[in-house]
Amino acid sequence: MSTPHNRAEKGDFAKTVLMPGDPLRAKFIAETFLENPRLVTDVRGMLGYTGTYQGRPISVMGSGMGMPSIGIYSYELYSQYGVENIIRIGSAGSYTEKAKLFDVVLAAGAYSESNYAVTQSGDADDIQKPNAELNAALKASAAAQGIPLIEGNIHSADVFYREPSDEKPAYWERLRDEKGCLAVEMESFALFHNAKVLGKRAACLLTISDSFVSPEITTPEQRQTSFTAMMKVALGADAY
Ligand code: HPA
Repeated sequence: MSTPHNRAEKGDFAKTVLMPGDPLRAKFIAETFLENPRLVTDVRGMLGYTGTYQGRPISVMGSGMGMPSIGIYSYELYSQYGVENIIRIGSAGSYTEKAKLFDVVLAAGAYSESNYAVTQSGDADDIQKPNAELNAALKASAAAQGIPLIEGNIHSADVFYREPSDEKPAYWERLRDEKGCLAVEMESFALFHNAKVLGKRAACLLTISDSFVSPEITTPEQRQTSFTAMMKVALGADAY
């Protein structure tokens, strides 16, 4: 069996899949952290690997950017491949001084103005939630390794380049102040919703790769290689 978007066979994925946005980051994670990683899918360059971490089976697969993309891949992993847990490990732009460059954020909820949930299943909630047990396991993993986590809502945006760019007050300031969003990414709302409708589990860890409140930005090389703390938190969780 395979799908139009995934050539893996049933049984090729572990029960837990780590999902970075960038398929090359999935390759990097598999080759750096997993024992005996093997490529299980590469349709459209969306690389997926399965190996073991400290003897336990685990997979890592890219999600692509945006909710339609993670919506397709995560739905198929849950519904076709028997996957139970998907941990998104992504990057985000910070909306607040509280979340600084390279800090690790654990999503408590994903707010979105997206129509993904209402279109997919008629669910009008504008905040979709991660799984509480997974979040507890990720917090325990972080605490055991002395890695600080900032927990709060995140914004899953449908639009990267908004107009007018000089709007006052900025769109994101309202989301920070009214919805409690610490940072922006583009995928978790759809992932959490898919997990909810399919009775599965999802969570999201993010490293801050850029900031709306301070002008510093990171390079692609830094984004590719500097997420070790976040990966240790994800890999060290024992809920899988
Ligand atoms: N916007 C949306 N998604 C992101 C950003 C951003 O600024 N940074 C990292 N992911």
